[in-house]
Amino acid sequence: MTPHGSTDALEVALTNDVLVVHGGSPLQGRIRVRGAKNLVSKAMVAALLGDSPSRLFDVPKIRDVEVVRGLLGLHGVKVSDGQENGELVFDPANVESASTDQINVHAGSSRIPILFCGPLLHRLGHAFIPDLGGCHIGPRPIDFHLQALREFGATVDKTPEGLHLSAPNGLHGTKFALPYPSVGATEQVLLTAVMAEGVTELRNAAVEPEIIDLICVLQKMGAIIKVHTDRVIEIQGVPKLHGYTHRPIPDRIEAASWAAAALATRGHVEVLGAQQADMMTFLNVFRSVGGEYEVTDTRPPRLGDAGQEGGIRFWHPGGELHATALETDVHPGFMTDWQQPLVVALTQARGLSIVHETVYEQRLGYTEALNSMGANIQVYRDCLGGTPCRFGRRNFKHSAVIAGPSKLHAADLVIPDLRAGFSHLIAALAAEGTSRVYGVDLINRGYEDFEAKLADLGAHVERP
Ligand code: EPZ
Repeated sequence: MTPHGSTDALEVALTNDVLVVHGGSPLQGRIRVRGAKNLVSKAMVAALLGDSPSRLFDVPKIRDVEVVRGLLGLHGVKVSDGQENGELVFDPANVESASTDQINVHAGSSRIPILFCGPLLHRLGHAFIPDLGGCHIGPRPIDFHLQALREFGATVDKTPEGLHLSAPNGLHGTKFALPYPSVGATEQVLLTAVMAEGVTELRNAAVEPEIIDLICVLQKMGAIIKVHTDRVIEIQGVPKLHGYTHRPIPDRIEAASWAAAALATRGHVEVLGAQQADMMTFLNVFRSVGGEYEVTDTRPPRLGDAGQEGGIRFWHPGGELHATALETDVHPGFMTDWQQPLVVALTQARGLSIVHETVYEQRLGYTEALNSMGANIQVYRDCLGGTPCRFGRRNFKHSAVIAGPSKLHAADLVIPDLRAGFSHLIAALAAEGTSRVYGVDLINRGYEDFEAKLADLGAHVERP
């Protein structure tokens, strides 16, 4: 069988990066999520700003963390494992320049390097940023980042090898409005403004829980940051920051991915660490399509009682799931990263579900692979929802109609990007028969130990 999505099936088939999935059984059991990928990597960059060591707990072993660790190391930050499993210690005492060749080893590996701009400009007066990587879910420009950095007084020189930045006159606070509440650009402004001279006012900022947690990290370091209503963030620059000690918010994208897997496979999965407050929008949708969940609070250890870690139990209660209409949006809306895993479960719901993707213009390509497994998903260029969206007039297929329920059958699949990859995996687990999922290594970018977790949940998967 030719793997679906492969341009050169033979090349892919020759690699060992394949998981054989014997689907059709419910996932059942308990797993744990650690610190959020999309906070941990940014908190690691923030450690560059301190004049003393920082400690970060619950860091997952994922590829993005390795990339940032490598880049910090190249810039003289000593990164070592702490005493606790998942604890990292960052010593920024000897921050230094790295050569473009050294930095370019990380070209194309992640989007996080763009966030090194502000901290490196503060610490060294110059920065080199390699070509960015990350998932191919649209053009993913960095124009907001560069515009913001220029507003602070940085000069940006785009060259074929990457971006060269300098700040000959230092960085100065500014008033700036983002054209769209971009997560990365908001983090760029925060990481730059905290040590820029004077006050920065950022309007139309993103306020995702991961951003609020980054603000907590920076505040622990000595920053002065006010989050006003209406997406306005005000930062009073300070001349010096120190190290932090921080336990990050748990990964709400991973938690929702396992929840969707429980629903699609008619299973029952307890996700230790999952937090209700950060997942409210997901939980509402989960319940409205017919999934059930129970939130368990953490019980701290007391004398004679070891305590218990809280989380959320997700399960399929039997019977049929219901179709729904949803639109992805910035926080507090339904996260774009929850969309792909949930759509697999929606293929099992009776009726027509509608998904309007308003954050990324090309995040529905993975539905082709689901259709090759028997799903019935049509994608449209129109905006199928009321949320104002930038893509309707620009001819992007960014809305989907899912007709269900469909019986999924096994297929050979090639993983295109991180979240779509996890949705392929869920589909293979839900489908009757044996699927081969190629390129699974990509999932290690954002899901720690996913193969061990699958085993804990009773999945029948193997490496050939
Ligand atoms: C972060 O990406 C996350 N990545 C993404 O998760 C997540 O999907 C996204 O935020 C939205 O929540 C990390 O945190 C590492 P954006 P980011 O800037 O910051 C446009 C995952 O799988 N835009 O909020 O890159 C952009 O094209 C990943 O974990 C510009 O036009 O996202 C997009 O349409 C995937 N110009 C929109 O804004 C810019 O300069 C939102 O992007 C920047 C962004």
